[in-house]
Amino acid sequence: MSRIAVVGQGYVGLTTSIGLSSLGHEVIGIDINDDRIKQLQSGQIPIYEPGLEELMNQVVQQGLLGFSNSFDSVSETTEFAFICVATPTSESGRADLTYVDSAIEMVADNLQPESIIVIKSTVPIGTSGSFAEFLSQKNIKIASNPEFLSEGNALFEFQNPSRIVVGADDTKTQQRVTALYDQIDAPRMMCGLTSAETIKHASNSFLAIKLSYVNELAALCEKTGAVLSEVTHGMSLDMRIGDKFLEPGPGWGGSCFPKDTAELAYSAKQLDAQMRTVEAAIESNSRTKDRIVQSIISLAGGSVAGKTVAIWGLAFKANTDDTRDSPAVHVAKALSSQGANIKAYDPIATSNEIENAIMCSSALEACAEASVLVVLTEWKEFGLIPAEHAREVMAGDAAVFDTRNVLDTKNWSRDFTNFVSIAL
Ligand code: UGA
Repeated sequence: MSRIAVVGQGYVGLTTSIGLSSLGHEVIGIDINDDRIKQLQSGQIPIYEPGLEELMNQVVQQGLLGFSNSFDSVSETTEFAFICVATPTSESGRADLTYVDSAIEMVADNLQPESIIVIKSTVPIGTSGSFAEFLSQKNIKIASNPEFLSEGNALFEFQNPSRIVVGADDTKTQQRVTALYDQIDAPRMMCGLTSAETIKHASNSFLAIKLSYVNELAALCEKTGAVLSEVTHGMSLDMRIGDKFLEPGPGWGGSCFPKDTAELAYSAKQLDAQMRTVEAAIESNSRTKDRIVQSIISLAGGSVAGKTVAIWGLAFKANTDDTRDSPAVHVAKALSSQGANIKAYDPIATSNEIENAIMCSSALEACAEASVLVVLTEWKEFGLIPAEHAREVMAGDAAVFDTRNVLDTKNWSRDFTNFVSIAL
């Protein structure tokens, strides 16, 4: 078992701290945010992530996990320091590496020779290698171990990853980092530092391209009369295409895809290796969000000014309270700016970004008197709400637009003559 420090206790760092300690490693989770550390020390997690809090309390009780707001807890016995701090997008479109730089500097001061700094934060390609020289003066190694966790399912994906990628410039470092995951049954991939960083970017951008493609197909099917869900099902039977990431929606969002696609597009262009597919996916996504707004305006009879629009879902996807770069919030803001009275409901997320919006405590409360209901996040509970209950409280000629294909088409189109589903 190894002694590990994990710097940054956001959703990646926290899942990594809890996951690694559940494998039997001795982990200290570090964050400079005092409130966050106090909350964690009191047994609560600051994010919504199913199963994580229970497992955290278990490993803390076993003495395998602790939290600290000080880098002094990285000591001479620490063998690995995982860097899991945020890399937000700066004005230029580049990832801002301020937190990564300072975290590496702070841990390097305390680490002993032969210890390994493992970068898990998603960093621009070439970042890990740029620290190699500085760290080699202290005989500290560097590795890249990108994360492929998706929010809402992070713990399961830590325990059952699609693959474990470890990049380093020497075999021994690759093997030492890979050995941390010995108990996990998943394909291993050892490679160079730059390849590991590229695998992460290439994967996220590829998935974003796939989604932009599906969302454009939705627009095409609307014109041709083809049923999108039939088209995507037919495509998915080809194993080369697969059945994942074929669900249409109001655009892709979250803290990762928008940031990572922007970073890859920017750095590729700087290197004179422009990735036009990624650029097109970004542009297409922005058009998808606008298209959804226009469709809602049309459903409202050409204008939403002065009308009540019920919004179901604010999170960027289901099973998370995260609204960063959420298409739902984008759409609600655009409608509000056109004069709509927004009444929003999300099972756990909230947003203060939508002007004059009323946050409701139930889905049906949001529907009261509404002229249009729009489903923007694919929460399962929306699919369980009887259409007739919404019918009873909404305006007489109300329309419903399901951008996530979660409502039962038969029931909803029976109760609402003006019912539109993105997948139809
Ligand atoms: C994504 C990747 O899936 C993870 O592998 C990666 O580790 C993570 O980014 C990261 O870089 O940290 P995440 O942002 O949590 O994970 O969410 P996804 O499940 O990938 O969804 C991203 C967006 O695509 C959401 O807005 C979601 O609603 C949308 N989406 C996804 C669809 O519209 N349709 C789909 O079929 C799938």
